[in-house]
Amino acid sequence: MAKYLTRQRKQILDSVLRVDHSGELAADRLHYGLMYVLRNDQQLQPIIQHLWEQEKRHLEYFSKQLVLNRSRKSFLTPIWETLSFGLGITSGMLGQRAAMACTVAVERTITEHYDNQIRQLLKDDLRAHQELIENISQIRDEEQEHHDVGLANDAKKMPAYSLFDAVISNGCKVAIQIAKRI
Ligand SMILES: [Fe+2]
Ligand SMILES: [Fe+2]
Repeated sequence: MAKYLTRQRKQILDSVLRVDHSGELAADRLHYGLMYVLRNDQQLQPIIQHLWEQEKRHLEYFSKQLVLNRSRKSFLTPIWETLSFGLGITSGMLGQRAAMACTVAVERTITEHYDNQIRQLLKDDLRAHQELIENISQIRDEEQEHHDVGLANDAKKMPAYSLFDAVISNGCKVAIQIAKRI
């Protein structure tokens, strides 16, 4: 029974770290794409740079955890990188409001994802996952701030905002479900 639990706990941990590493890698590339297009935008450049710095720290954390726990990356890592860089470039080219609408959609979805994950880890074993839960909670709060930054910078004033938001959010949800498994 103990062995079964240990194996099950390792599977949960592998899945959590795999999907979170994929997500933060995607966030890093997304901000690279946004920054590439908006590097000369005096209003958004410092905002995106600040968000990007935090995404780099999130990625560093999950990259380290993958190694420490001997877990592996998602097999689809190159696809997550390419799609998210493309999303950053496309959103940036659509303009300031689209860039912020993209941020709002992505960050809301990732915040919900981290909330679900914290519940999953708490349900499994608070003590076994305590440090991970604390770190994910802190990262989750930063994603919430990113979401709020997007809202404060006119994301919802983008034309066809609801459609744009739904496409990106649903795309992220599908990617999350896939990255949890492979
Ligand atoms: Fe992040
Ligand atoms: Fe974020």
